[in-house]
Amino acid sequence: SVIVIFGPPGAGKGTQAPKITETLNIPQLATGDMLRAAVAAGTEVGKKAKAAMDSGGLVTDDIVVGIIRDRIAEKDCARGFILDGFPRTVEQAKKLDEMLKKRGEKVDVVVSLEIDDALLEERICGRWVHKASGRSYHVKFNPPKSLLKKKGKKAKPKRMVDDVTGEPLEQRSDDTKEALVARLEAYHKQTKPILAHYQSIVAAVDASREMDAVWADIKSALPVQS
Ligand code: AP5
Ligand code: ZN
Repeated sequence: SVIVIFGPPGAGKGTQAPKITETLNIPQLATGDMLRAAVAAGTEVGKKAKAAMDSGGLVTDDIVVGIIRDRIAEKDCARGFILDGFPRTVEQAKKLDEMLKKRGEKVDVVVSLEIDDALLEERICGRWVHKASGRSYHVKFNPPKSLLKKKGKKAKPKRMVDDVTGEPLEQRSDDTKEALVARLEAYHKQTKPILAHYQSIVAAVDASREMDAVWADIKSALPVQS
C-alpha cells in the first residue's frame, strides 16, 4: 500500500507514521528527515536545501522528487511505503502519480491531519527530537522518561534524553515562531491544494485531540492488510 500522511507543521505526521509502519509493516519515508540528514552530512543536496529549510520555505521539487525516486527503488519499499512530508506541491503529487503508475501502483489513501493553526505553535516550540532516529517528544504532551523523572525538582530541558538510546534530545533549527509563520504560509499556499488533487481518497482526521484518539481514527482509515 502507498499511504500519504498529510498535514501542517506540527499536526502529528511524524508522531503517527511509525504506528502505521508497525501496523502495515511498510517503511516511513519522511522527506524532512532525509533532508535534515543530508544537511548534517554536508552533501550536495544538503547544501542546496539548507537555506530554504532554515527560513521555513520549500526545497525545490526536483530535489525532493529525486530523493523519493531513489528511495522507493529500494527493496524495503516493494510492498509499499508511508510518505510523510511528501508530496508538498501539486507538481510533486503529479510526479509521484507518474512514478507509481510505472510500478503499477497508486496512492491508496491520503490521511489528512486537520488542526487549527492556533494550536501549532505550542506543539512546534515544545518539540524535542532524537535526530538519529527521528523520534520526537514534547515537553508537555509527550515528555521523555528523563523529564518525568525530574518532576518535582526544577526541570532541565537541556538534559533530556531519548527513551530508547539515552542520547541527548535537540530542538530543530526551524522550530522557531518566525520560521513557523513561513512554514504555515507555504503549507496553505503550496501544499493544501494537494487535497483537491487527491479528493476521492482523502480521509480527514481531527488531529487536535490527544495522540491515542488521533491514532484510532487513522487506524480505521488504513487499507485492510493483504
Ligand atoms: P518536515 O520535517 O516535513 O516538517 P513539517 O511538515 O513542518 O512537519 P513537522 O515535522 O514540523 O510536523 P509533524 O506533523 O511531523 O509533527 P510531529 O508529529 O513531530 O519538513 C521540514 C522542512 O523540510 C520543510 O519546511 C521544507 O523546507 C523541507 N521539506 C520537507 N519535505 C519537503 C518537500 N516534499 N518539498 C519541499 N520541501 C520539503 O508533532 C509535533 C509536536 O507535537 C511533537 O512535539 C509531538 O510530540 C507533538 N504532538 C503530536 N501529536 C500530538 C497530539 N495529538 N497532541 C499533542 N501533541 C502532539
Ligand atoms: Zn515531521
